[in-house]
This record gives sequence, C-alpha cells and structure tokens, in this order.
Amino acid sequence: MEYQNILVETRGAVGWIQLNRPEAMNALSMALVSEVGQAIEAFQADDEVGAMVITGNEKAFAAGADIKDMEGQDFIDLFLADFPYNRRDGWDSLNTARKPIIAAVSGFALGGGCEMAMACDFILAADTARFGQPEINIGTIPGAGGTQRLTRAVGKAKAMEMCLTGRMMDAEEAERAGLVSRILPAEELEAEALKVAGKIAKMSRPAVYMAKEAVNVAFESSLQEGLRFERRAFASTFATEDQKEGMNAFVEKRKPDFKHR
Ligand code: HXC
Repeated sequence: MEYQNILVETRGAVGWIQLNRPEAMNALSMALVSEVGQAIEAFQADDEVGAMVITGNEKAFAAGADIKDMEGQDFIDLFLADFPYNRRDGWDSLNTARKPIIAAVSGFALGGGCEMAMACDFILAADTARFGQPEINIGTIPGAGGTQRLTRAVGKAKAMEMCLTGRMMDAEEAERAGLVSRILPAEELEAEALKVAGKIAKMSRPAVYMAKEAVNVAFESSLQEGLRFERRAFASTFATEDQKEGMNAFVEKRKPDFKHR
C-alpha cells in the first residue's frame, strides 16, 4: 500500500505509523486520517504485529483537523456523512482496533490531534508536548471525542476550561492530570515508544486483547458490571495455552514463550 500522508513500517512486532505532513504541522486532512485507518486495519490483520505506535514529528503530533479541508463544509455534509465516524474516515479503525495503540506525542497535539492521541490506548509524551482543544478559537467545538475523552481523563474543571478557552496544557500538567502515562526527554521518546510497544507485542495476545477490553469497559459501565466483565475475562484466560505457558514458566523460573493461543 502506498501512503501519501503517513510513513508506515513494521519494526519487529510493532506497527509504526508516523503522521507526515510537516509543512502543515501534521494537520489531519481527511486523506491523512483515512490512511491512518488503512494502516491500522493492515496491522490489525498482520499476525506478526502485536502493537502499534502512532507518532508525529518533533514540532507536532498533529495540530488538529485540517482547517483548510473543513472550511468549506456545511452542516449537511458532515451530518449525512456522520463525520468523523464514517468507516471511510479512518477514526473508526482507530476506535475499534483490538491491538494496543500507543500515541507518542512530541510538540503540539491540538484539536483532532489531541483527540487522536486520546483515542489511542495511552499517551507517552515528550517534555515538549502540548495538548489542547482550541476549536473554540475558530468557532467550533471538538468533534472526535475531545469533550468526552478529555473530561474522562482530566476531569470536568480542566476539560471545561480547555474546551471553553482553548488553553493548552504542557507535558507536566498533562501528566499530573492523568492525560499521559509518562513524560520522556524528547530525544528518547521514539526509542521508548518502540520498546514499550515491543514489550506488549511479546505478551500473550489474547491476554492483551482482554486486558484492553476490560480497561475500556471501565468507561462504559457501572463498577459492578465492570467487575463482572473483568472476572469473566480473567477466568476465560485460563482457557488459553498462553496462561498455562505463562504460569508454568514462572514456576520453572524461565521466560514464557507465548504462542498467542
Ligand atoms: C491546517 C494548519 C493547521 C491546521 C497548522 N497549520 N495547523 N493547517 N489545519 N489545523 C499550518 C499553518 O496554516 C501553516 O501553514 C503551517 O501549518 C505552520 O503553522 P503556523 O501557524 O505558521 O505555526 P506556528 O506559528 O508555530 O503555530 C503552530 C500552531 C498553529 C499553534 C499549532 O498553527 C495553530 O494554532 N494551528 C491551528 C490549531 C487548531 O485550531 N486546531 C484545531 C483544528 S479544528 P502555511 O501554509 O501558512 O505555512 C479540529 C476539529 C477536529 O481539530 C474535529 C474532528 C476531526
């Protein structure tokens, strides 16, 4: 597959996606997001890949949806297309991927860029990262999860202030608020993201899928329902060969050799 707006490669067992429109701060044109969706689908279908990373460049993860793309759109265009959750748009592939996706963020992650990072399973941030939902500055509001995921991640006060004023958060504030899992020196971000994704890719894939699903249920259910889901998923890992291998390896003081079965 030839991509025009992203760079895609397989690094070991990691599917690597780099947003690549540096001249436009990686603005998320519809073509770019559609390519991201296609790359995710391809990595999801590739048995050799166990986890993915989405990253940008040192200045920008992405400075939002491409304003020049959107400028001429009307309500009816967006409404009928159900933008941006139409399958063709790419966001759906990001939202429904079963393999974990890490966002490695340097520089600006604004608007749709912040939303794309938050749609990933967790965010590793460079010390240069800046997060924001500045749509209000251009007369609109977040449209790809910003008002929902940011609020769940950092709470109402910060999410409300950011969405109403467009104020950005730096990496330290984002870590304090729980938006990112860790901050790294910018020059170490890529290597660390690759290392973490590689580590996940080596784990038992069914266990990884179940862990991801179970954590996500926490956002969709009551505590009791979530606990029940977790318990059932936990028990079902005991039907896998990997659980036998993992526990056996521990008892025999060796490294497990997971077969993803
Ligand atoms: C299109 C963009 C862009 C964007 C930057 N560029 N952001 N083009 N859409 N979102 C382009 C600029 O037009 C410029 O192109 C080039 O990238 C460099 O940007 P500058 O503004 O010159 O850089 P700088 O002064 O360093 O400022 C960086 C910035 C600023 C703070 C990130 O560019 C900015 O505020 N961008 C817009 C951020 C934003 O409002 N995002 C939300 C979009 S709405 P030229 O050709 O002039 O050199 C959204 C809704 C999502 O995301 C809905 C669901 C999908």
